[in-house]
Amino acid sequence: MKIAIANDHTAVDMKNELVKYLTDKGYEVINFGTDTYESFDYAISGEKAANAVAGGEADRGIAICGTGIGIGLACNKVNGIRACMCSEPYSAKYTRLHNDANMVTFGARVIGIEMAKMIVDIFLETEFEGGRHQRRVDQIMDIERRNSGK
Ligand code: RB5
Repeated sequence: MKIAIANDHTAVDMKNELVKYLTDKGYEVINFGTDTYESFDYAISGEKAANAVAGGEADRGIAICGTGIGIGLACNKVNGIRACMCSEPYSAKYTRLHNDANMVTFGARVIGIEMAKMIVDIFLETEFEGGRHQRRVDQIMDIERRNSGK
C-alpha cells in the first residue's frame, strides 16, 4: 500500500518517526511534507498529498499540522478526498468503517507519537463496511459534485 504523507513545520519530527514506522512495516511512503523547522504553510503540503490520493498515486494519506485542522481543511478542498481528523483510535476505526475516509489528519501539538502510531495502524488496516454507509458516502460526494465549479 502506498501512503502519501503531508506536514508543516510543527510536525517534522512526528512525520519522520511515522515514515520510519510505516516503512519498517512494508508500506511505501511518499513524502509531500516539509523537512525543516522553518515556517511552512500547511495548505501547500496538504494539497500535494491530497492530489496524490485523489489521483491514485497513493492509496491513502496522512496529514499532520499543529492541530490537524488546517491541513485537513486544505486536503478536503481536493475533489475525491475525505480527510478526517482523528485524535484517538475509535474515530480512526469508524472513519474507515463508516465514512470510507481516504486521508487521516491529526495534530502534532495535540497527540503524542505512540497515539499517532495507533491511529495510523487502525486507519490503514480497517476496511470500509459498505452497505448503508455507501449510500451516505455517496450523498457526501454528491454534495461535492453539485457544488464544484462554484
Ligand atoms: C501553525 O502555527 C499552525 O497554525 C498549524 O500547524 C495548524 O495547527 C493549523 O491548523
